[in-house]
Amino acid sequence: MALKKAVLFWTFTSVLWLGSIFVNGEGSEDVVFPPTLLPSEPGLPVGHLLPLGYQREPEGPVKEYTQPLTPTEFWEQHAREPYVPLVYRQAIAKAPAVANWQSDDYIREKYGDLDVLIEKKIEDRHHPVRLRMPLSEFLDNYHHKQWYVVSLLPDPMRAEMQVPRSLLCGNFRDSILESNLWLSSGGTRSVLHYDADHNIHCLISGRKDFIMIDNKYGDKLDLADKKKSGSGFTHMNVDKVDLVKNPEVAEVPWTWATLKPGDCIFIPSRYFHQVRSYGRSVAATIMWDPFAEFNDSDCATRDIDTYTAFNEVKLQWTYKKGDKVIDMGYMNVEIIRKTFLTLMKEEDMEKFTPELLAILYEHNILDEDEGEELGEEDMEHVRKVFSVMDKDKKGYITAEEIQAMDIETLKRVARGIEEAHGPIGEDPGPRDEL
Ligand SMILES: *[C@@H]1O[C@H](CO)[C@@H](O)[C@H](O)[C@H]1NC(C)=O
Repeated sequence: MALKKAVLFWTFTSVLWLGSIFVNGEGSEDVVFPPTLLPSEPGLPVGHLLPLGYQREPEGPVKEYTQPLTPTEFWEQHAREPYVPLVYRQAIAKAPAVANWQSDDYIREKYGDLDVLIEKKIEDRHHPVRLRMPLSEFLDNYHHKQWYVVSLLPDPMRAEMQVPRSLLCGNFRDSILESNLWLSSGGTRSVLHYDADHNIHCLISGRKDFIMIDNKYGDKLDLADKKKSGSGFTHMNVDKVDLVKNPEVAEVPWTWATLKPGDCIFIPSRYFHQVRSYGRSVAATIMWDPFAEFNDSDCATRDIDTYTAFNEVKLQWTYKKGDKVIDMGYMNVEIIRKTFLTLMKEEDMEKFTPELLAILYEHNILDEDEGEELGEEDMEHVRKVFSVMDKDKKGYITAEEIQAMDIETLKRVARGIEEAHGPIGEDPGPRDEL
């Protein structure tokens, strides 16, 4: 009898819960997070086939601040190893975006002609699809399609976004690689994954929940093959964690955070995170490459307490109307400069040549067949990329030229070195793929 009751209770509560989350992801206010563990079905582990978070009590919330730290404090306590996530409440509360972007009409009117990249709301890294379209087309359709804007925050929109105080001096201020815009009607779910870059994710509209897991637990998490880029993801179905197949998931400590409009979370490089949204949600992220040393030389003179709009600081990868490529997820181009100079030293060469560039290709690009010689077609590509840098066609470039190379040239090299991330051009065609 007692057993039967437990089963009934389990069935009843899970149906209730499933109903509250899976129906549409809207009406977000009452979704309980972190969840309360449910009694298990007889013979099965607690949380089996339930969403991630039901397998074990959380360690607690992510460390929270009501006033963002100074850049030096942020560096010392969170952004240098061991990296520690944090939540800043109301760090971008003064950004006009927080008031204005609650309205689709406002966004359509002001930014509708700008292009964005679109993904599926339920992330699927095994079958990724990405479309490009004007923001207005997205806004006209997103309530009845499974569309999710995950794109570069277009330049004009940065004027309404605030830079959190902790990034306003030192190398933080100079190191920003890109900023992304996230916009959906809710019910989005990421896979459990980690990225190479540090990331401050700020919520502008709606609600987002985060599950955070230290990278050191990666071997308990059914990781997909590690990618050379320093990012990675798990095969885990985050809606239905299979504890029979992956029992170790229940041993992994986790912390949690819920963001409201104006709040930001620092997701450190390589930190696992799983993200869910409820109801219409708009977010902007700021990403940078982790650095080993903090150079605070300008911190004594920078005013970090005056409101600073996001268009007052520089970024490496940006998008504005008319740009052919929306360069998302590209590398820090300063690494290219550094790598070229280091290789010249290592090889004891005075000149950087297509042959040296080919060595980098062999190691970076053709990782899967490491050690294999490049074919003639590959070499042709290498020479083409090289010619971008060899402006006066000498057949080589000097260390001085590499040191002085402008960012735009380095970006063209980066685009040659890595594949374009996402569609190119104005209209990539059919919309029914998503
Ligand atoms: C620190 O940054 C400043 C610019 O803010 C630069 O002039 C200086 O060379 C840097 N110092 C080091 C050791 O890199």
